[in-house]
Parts: sequence; C-alpha cells; structure tokens
Amino acid sequence: MADPLLRIDALHAGYGDAVVLHGIDLAIADGAAVALLGRNGAGKSTVLKTILNAGPKLVAGRISLDGRDLRALGADARARAGLMLVPEDRRVFPHITVAENIALGVHAARPGVKPMTMDEIWDLFPALVPFAERAGYALSGGQQQMVAVARGVIARPRLLLLDEPVEGLAPVIVDQMAAEIRRLHRDHGLTVLVTEQNLSFARAVTDTLHLIDSGELVHSGDWAGFDADPTLKTRYLAV
Ligand SMILES: Nc1ncnc2c1ncn2[C@@H]1O[C@H](COP(=O)(O)OP(=O)(O)OP(=O)(O)O)[C@@H](O)[C@H]1O
Ligand SMILES: [Mg+2]
Repeated sequence: MADPLLRIDALHAGYGDAVVLHGIDLAIADGAAVALLGRNGAGKSTVLKTILNAGPKLVAGRISLDGRDLRALGADARARAGLMLVPEDRRVFPHITVAENIALGVHAARPGVKPMTMDEIWDLFPALVPFAERAGYALSGGQQQMVAVARGVIARPRLLLLDEPVEGLAPVIVDQMAAEIRRLHRDHGLTVLVTEQNLSFARAVTDTLHLIDSGELVHSGDWAGFDADPTLKTRYLAV
C-alpha cells in the first residue's frame, strides 16, 4: 500500500521535563480531511506543533511526510516540505494590510511549486476582497481567521493544520469558514487536519475523526461510528 501523506508513530512529546503526548499513532492519507477532537488541555495543539517542530520537545517516535523522516528538519524546512500550521492565535500582523499579511505565506512555497497569485486568493476568499487594503488591527476575529487561512494556503501546502479555526467566532462566520475549508478540500484537493471543540464545524469539514484525551488517542473512526456511541461525547468532549 502507498505511504500515507503524513505518518506519526509512537509519538511522545512535551515541554521541558513534562511529557504530554504518550504514544500517538496517526496516518493521514493524501486528500483526506481529518479532525482531532478533545477537551481543553488534551494535547491537540501539542500534536500540531510537534508535527511542525514549532515548540514542543520530541521525546520519542517518528513523523514522516511521504515516507520521509522529518526528525532532522526545523519548522521552516517542514513548511517548505509542504506542512502549514494556522495556529490558535492567528498571528495576523496589525500594522500591515490584509493583502500583505496573506502574501507573507509565500515564503513557505515548496521548490518547484508556484504559490497562488493574489487573484487566486481573492477568488477563493471573496469575503476578504473589500478588506484587501485594510490594516490587520481593524479586522474582526472572523476576518482575521480567514486571513490566517488564506496565508496558510497561498503556498499550496500538502497538508494544512488548522488549530481551532472557529473558536470564539459567531455561528454565521463558523458556517462561512466551514464552506471555505470544504471547498479548499473538495475543489483544490487540500489535505486538512483540524483540531476543534466545535462539533458541528468539525463534522461539516471532515470525514474522519480522532479523539484525544490526556495525550493519548482514545477513539478513531468516521462520524457515523462517533454518533453510534454517545458515551464518546460525554467521556471525551466537553458537552
Ligand atoms: N508551552 C507549554 N509549556 C508547558 N506546558 C504546556 C505548554 N503548552 C501546553 N502545555 C501543556 O500541555 C498539555 C496539552 O496542551 P495543549 O495546548 O496541547 O492542549 P489542547 O488540547 O490544545 O487544549 P485547548 O483546547 O485548550 O487549546 C496541557 O496540560 C498544557 O498545560
Ligand atoms: Mg489548543
């Protein structure tokens, strides 16, 4: 069988002396849309940041992209290999424009892969067009999140990691964001791994899910399987 796009084996990682991930195994196929769900502090962001080598300390285990071991690569090299993280805190720079914020994502272009043009970005995110020249500080939370996602895809990553993209956003913005992510997945073949606590959003944008609790995966499957066992929700997610 072909290698999955991303493969994580027996991953242990943490901060300083504290180990917070205790043996995570995860395989993400090219073209998949996958959710990683769990309570506050379960380890969701740590998984994403460990994949990027952006903070947590790898204690043991293996992370590979297309069968290539990533261990020796720093965060920038992993970005240029096709991994892109849109972090929880969005990091939209306040004193440059929306267009300039999005263009910053071009630095992660893979060798031989042409980044999207700004026209392609505006086609993908028409809601941002009226704000193109507006400074980052003058955007709503939802607009900032959309800028962060646009910056995340401009270099055409192989795998987009989204850390709680709709946390704190109004329901109408959540629906808009779900439609955007779905479209990037369906029409542009983008592979996505998304962490969330918002179940309806996660359900709208992914096909399979993993539940994480105290740094361990406790359930994996599709949404039908998740719905068939209501105790999963009460045991592993805040409801
Ligand atoms: N920089 C850090 N230094 C030390 N411990 C950390 C650090 N970041 C996270 N942790 C700890 O690691 C554990 C997992 O945190 P993580 O941020 O991965 O959880 P999460 O599932 O993303 O939670 P949330 O839903 O609140 O974002 C928690 O116990 C947290 O306190
Ligand atoms: Mg988190």
